[in-house]
Amino acid sequence: MKERLKQSLILLLMLAPLVSFAQQAPQIMNVSARQTTSLDGQWKTIVDPFENGYYDYRLRPYDGGYAQDKTYLDKTQLQEYDFETDKLLFVPGDWNTQRPQLYYYEGTVWYRKHFEYDLKPGKRLFLNFGAVNYEAIVWLNGKRLGKHIGGFTPFNYEITDLLKDGTNSLVVKVDNKRIPEGVPTVNADWWNFGGITRSVTLVEMPSTYIRDYYVQLKKNEENTIEGWVQLDGVTKEQKVVLNIPELKIKKEVTTDANGYASFTIKAKPALWSPETPKLYAVNLSAETDVVSDEVGFRTIRTEGTKILLNNKEIFCRGISIHEETAYYSGRAYSRDQAQTLLGWAKEMGCNFVRLAHYPHNEEMVREAERMGLLVWSEIPVYWTIHWENKDTYNNAEQQLCDMIGRDKNRCNIIIWSVANETPLSDPRLTFLTSLINKARSLDNVRLIGAAMEKEEVQPGVLTVNDPLDKLLDIISFNEYVGWYDGDSEKCDRVNWVFNSNKPVFISEFGGGALYGRHGSSKERFTEEYQEDLYIRHVNMLKRIPGLAGTTPWILKDFRSPRRHVPEIQDDFNRKGLISDKGQKKKAFFVMQKWYRELAETYK
Ligand code: GCU
Repeated sequence: MKERLKQSLILLLMLAPLVSFAQQAPQIMNVSARQTTSLDGQWKTIVDPFENGYYDYRLRPYDGGYAQDKTYLDKTQLQEYDFETDKLLFVPGDWNTQRPQLYYYEGTVWYRKHFEYDLKPGKRLFLNFGAVNYEAIVWLNGKRLGKHIGGFTPFNYEITDLLKDGTNSLVVKVDNKRIPEGVPTVNADWWNFGGITRSVTLVEMPSTYIRDYYVQLKKNEENTIEGWVQLDGVTKEQKVVLNIPELKIKKEVTTDANGYASFTIKAKPALWSPETPKLYAVNLSAETDVVSDEVGFRTIRTEGTKILLNNKEIFCRGISIHEETAYYSGRAYSRDQAQTLLGWAKEMGCNFVRLAHYPHNEEMVREAERMGLLVWSEIPVYWTIHWENKDTYNNAEQQLCDMIGRDKNRCNIIIWSVANETPLSDPRLTFLTSLINKARSLDNVRLIGAAMEKEEVQPGVLTVNDPLDKLLDIISFNEYVGWYDGDSEKCDRVNWVFNSNKPVFISEFGGGALYGRHGSSKERFTEEYQEDLYIRHVNMLKRIPGLAGTTPWILKDFRSPRRHVPEIQDDFNRKGLISDKGQKKKAFFVMQKWYRELAETYK
């Protein structure tokens, strides 16, 4: 008996460090408005394709590896890693475009940052990641904080009691390997940018702080603002004042024993719209914390085949956009990168952007709101997801909750999308039905969509034949008539029929062209082919009954590991209306012309 007890104790001691020391904390709303210290900049890194810093030679994970960030001083001892002498990578940013040796790399890179922090008594400190693609395991001072899965949503840990005097060691194991049960799964048409791809921030809070809040118009009521506030900390019951100075609103509520309070306020805000993107300063003041935000107010609903913004019919003059910078084509993360991409969309005459195929960084969503661009936001439930894997569903649902959680106060987001081009099956329908129900339970003031696929039910007759269309608010789908489906002239010959009385939204169409490649309009990848395709496609769109919006694929050429025509694609998907170097192709002006006409029609 004694021996067994001893063995159990040894095992317990071995596994103890593996236990997550600090569980992932609930998402903090509006991090950038808080008292923050940035950890962005150069981080020390170790490229570790065999994960030698995490598994021992018997493939057992152990925290005694690189996470301990040991300085290799005593050369009489054996140590086979040393952050101090290893290379640097910039955070935020993908590693693929920072270092040529990492261009195609899929595996583990260790990141290490040293920082000092003087936390005053009574204050709390959180470590917030904007996003890490794809899996992150985080240690602070050798203690494991936790593991996060999903490459496009924020996460944070409370580190109040884990700080050291002097230098703190933050180590992150980032692994961007694609896995079949992942979200997305192993096949996707975008570059698998690995790294700490969004900002890392220390967030200092009072002992009880305003962790989360919601402030928007009540569903379909232009004169009723509703919302709630959630405190986090020991002093749960507090007076909280919601103040919107420009509307002369000063509403006091008292949070309950859970730190929660809701409110409903009569008001007459100027409504947000692409033409008048009005945002109000909103201040929440609790007894122990204050936070400010910029909030817009609008209503969105459908009526038959119409989309009504503020009870006025709109046409979504959109464009699809990947989260990829102009010019160097890396993972985008900053406000000025967002301004470049969204500026091009505005130049095209857009009032709408589809942020594909995953939640973009918060700067992109907020900049779109300021610039008057409606948004379709989506999770990367893309193509052949493992529909019957429970962990896969939980991962997708967590990403949905985190996307909605982060952006629920962004009035310009009018569509949450749960999927893109997913093959029909019962398990897929079950999976997506659960996601749709979850989205509706979290948010009743936005439309729910997905990029379904079209079907040619008989020669020249196209429709959408997908049971999802009963569950969605819009008939949204991708179609490539003239590119993957026939040549450009097929656009002239087909007709679309729909049996649902809902708005039709074409979430992708288009074709490729290399900027500057000229020739016959019959020759693929010439600008002339793309231009002719767009002209014929737009004429086809004009014939579609109930069309309420479209987001052609895509604003800018983007990196894809699936595109191998030398001298033309060279690892780029060339369906952009703008080249990866910012050059506008002829088809750009076809959309610009049509969108200008539409803007006049829907004035
Ligand atoms: C699909 C998919 C996109 C892809 C595009 C293409 O519709 O949704 O992610 O890039 O087709 O093939 O270019």
